[in-house]
Amino acid sequence: MIYQACIACGEKYGADEIVYSCKRCGDLLEVKYDYDLLEAKLKKSDWQSLPLSVWRYKDFMPIRDPSKIVSLNEGGTGLHSCQRLVNILGVKHLYVKNEGENPTGSFKDRGMTVGITKAVELNMKTVICASTGNTSASLAAYAAKAKLQCIVLIPSGKIAYGKLAQAMIYGAKVVQIRGNFDHALKMVLELSEKHREVYLLNSINPYRLEGQKSLAYEICDQLNREPPDRVVLPVGNAGNISAIWKGFTEFHKLGLIDKLPKMTGIQAEGAAPIARAIKNGKDKIVPINKPETIATAIRIGAPISWKKAIRAIRESGGTAETVTDEEILEAQKMLARSEGLFVEPASASSIAGLKKLFEAGKIDKDETVVCVTTGHGLKDPDIAIKISEKPSEVDAEIGSIEKLLGLSRSIPATVVSR
Ligand code: F0G
Repeated sequence: MIYQACIACGEKYGADEIVYSCKRCGDLLEVKYDYDLLEAKLKKSDWQSLPLSVWRYKDFMPIRDPSKIVSLNEGGTGLHSCQRLVNILGVKHLYVKNEGENPTGSFKDRGMTVGITKAVELNMKTVICASTGNTSASLAAYAAKAKLQCIVLIPSGKIAYGKLAQAMIYGAKVVQIRGNFDHALKMVLELSEKHREVYLLNSINPYRLEGQKSLAYEICDQLNREPPDRVVLPVGNAGNISAIWKGFTEFHKLGLIDKLPKMTGIQAEGAAPIARAIKNGKDKIVPINKPETIATAIRIGAPISWKKAIRAIRESGGTAETVTDEEILEAQKMLARSEGLFVEPASASSIAGLKKLFEAGKIDKDETVVCVTTGHGLKDPDIAIKISEKPSEVDAEIGSIEKLLGLSRSIPATVVSR
């Protein structure tokens, strides 16, 4: 038995009702299950023998007809043990869950495989989202696979080029809004209410978050059901931290793990309404009118899922931190050079936040920490090029190259021995 319920007043809605917020009090919705039924179902299921992926957990997903699943093989991303980063930072155990390994290069694919499958179940023909880039790339890909029409609203100007290229090549109708993400989100909320035939797949749609909760399941399974002490991740519109927390609490409820990690959200200093609320002990956020950060993915001033995120952080005993653009870029380079993981700036904020919290003594040195890196570095090549050493140009001539590289002109050993 699956239904939707309001997180504030508990009002219930049917699983197939197209509703994006509570009609009674206006608050956010979440997908609910009968966990006794689910437990019984799991006992008869072969899920534990399936390979790691979002759909290994199909019994935990709000999908009725597996034949309708729209998949590009999402999830099953690496949980990288980062020993060199451990040596640099001083934490005891550090893993990076690298979501850039998903089909369109970000964690959004976990949500979209479920969201688009739901759209197909509901017989919708058009899907829409507002996006700082990754959601639009992912939605466009899954809509193409499902032969649905796709509309994406993005902020004009500040969107990373890789993401724009993705949305365009997958054939979405790309609309640039003169404004920021918060304006674009407001527009799609209104459009989807007014035109009921257009299905909204921002994270206010609780079905998308159901897919994203698989990230928590995977971390548990990759660590042999011994969850980490802490999960650190970037927070923008705040859907992902809420989804991951839901995943951990569900595994806990079902007796699959016996402890829960502390959820730790990192925001960019110029776009940090949630981190500020947490730091100031407030229950509500104060939206930021003109959010600003180099990490364009999380350049969001009025996160829609702020209430779920604050709940996740408080219930788990976690915390939140802000990081500067300089700290983000330094972390991006450090992760690439010490572990071979190239992530986009927003993703690197998790590493920057961990460093800052650890140095401030807010994270215990004995903790096992998982940092989630949410998107691939090639999404935003301009930034990587800007912060790296420029290539040197020389003539196609051995001497010039040797000179540039500081290589001596010795006779090769093979020639000497003859
Ligand atoms: N990291 C990346 C790379 C993202 O693209 C986003 C969000 C986040 C972190 C934050 O996740 O919103 O669930 O808190 N990107 C959205 C988008 C807003 O439109 O692509 P969140």
